[in-house]
Amino acid sequence: MIELMPVARQFRLLKDEILREITDTIEQGSYILGPKVEKLEKRISQMTGANHSVAVANGTDALVLTLDALGVGTGDEVITTPYSFFATAEAISRVGAVPVFVDIDSFWSLDPERVEAAITPQTKAILPVHLFGQPADLGKIQSIAERRGLLVIEDACQAFGANYRGKPVGTIGKAGCFSFFPSKNLGTMGDGGIVVTSDAELAKRLRMLRQHGSSKRYYHDTLGYNSRLDEIHAAILLVTTGHVEAWIKRRRALAQSYDEGLRSLTSLLEVPATEDGRFHAYNLYCITSPRRDDIREALLARNIQTGVYYPRPLHLQRVYASLGYSVGDFPLAEKLSEEVLALPMGPLLTDREQELVIAVLQDFAEKGGAK
Ligand SMILES: Cc1ncc(COP(=O)(O)O)c(C=O)c1O
Repeated sequence: MIELMPVARQFRLLKDEILREITDTIEQGSYILGPKVEKLEKRISQMTGANHSVAVANGTDALVLTLDALGVGTGDEVITTPYSFFATAEAISRVGAVPVFVDIDSFWSLDPERVEAAITPQTKAILPVHLFGQPADLGKIQSIAERRGLLVIEDACQAFGANYRGKPVGTIGKAGCFSFFPSKNLGTMGDGGIVVTSDAELAKRLRMLRQHGSSKRYYHDTLGYNSRLDEIHAAILLVTTGHVEAWIKRRRALAQSYDEGLRSLTSLLEVPATEDGRFHAYNLYCITSPRRDDIREALLARNIQTGVYYPRPLHLQRVYASLGYSVGDFPLAEKLSEEVLALPMGPLLTDREQELVIAVLQDFAEKGGAK
């Protein structure tokens, strides 16, 4: 089987390094928010150029705590994309605010041209998502936000290592939220997340919120969360941070080979749109095709796994029925959910595996997409 995301290979490859770090964690005797988390936070600040990094329990919490820390809550609206993992909108709802969706652009991110019309007196923030590892149109989004006095919170959960016009994603808005879920570009063997920001006050507040609203032990200034990163995950991340740059290079090389091998199959599929200035970190490589399900079947028949991210856009999720959206509100997002297909991707996918994926698709296209 050619896996969609051969993640276990990454951890197996680094097993000795990881075991040394874990042994060290056992010996040090500090297991939550200890010296390794501190070291990781410093390293992420160095890698992204952010002034502050605050590690939390997962990427969802990174979003929730950031919104909370910035005072986004009941009565507020946050403009975001209907095309993302559910956690993006869930975080907005969790703090009591309302997600206001606007359709995507041709790069599958929040379309800045549609943002302005969605702003109301209740709008407090814009929450773009760097979907699949490709930066959203941050230049335009940031300028709307500045003009209209809104916060920009970047959902960079899928995009560690991506940059917008040379600036790492996560460091352009007020704050950037990353996930360390195992299959992310920078992952651990479990859950983890981090917020980066250049705002010292925000970082201070996040540190308090992740620890039950406390900055001094057993003294609580506000209601917070239990959202701390374990030392064991920081230990693993101290290893994976050493490889992430090379791994993103490899992801990009694989993406280029997919582009070259598939670009001409226009009767069957389209390769993802890219643009100079948006340095794509390719957490996923997704094609689109009206024959998506047939392609999926043809690949599976050759033992090749694929993925559908995401089969139902956020505005049509049952949980958001009360928001009053209906089919047809966001045609681009809806079409994408019917046509998107993720192909095998990951730094340790082999050339041979990728060649087979491409060959099966070329063969399928040559036969006119016959089953
Ligand atoms: C776009 C996006 N936002 C938020 C999250 C939430 O991250 P986590 O799974 O670490 O809570 C994810 C993770 O899959 C994601 O892809």
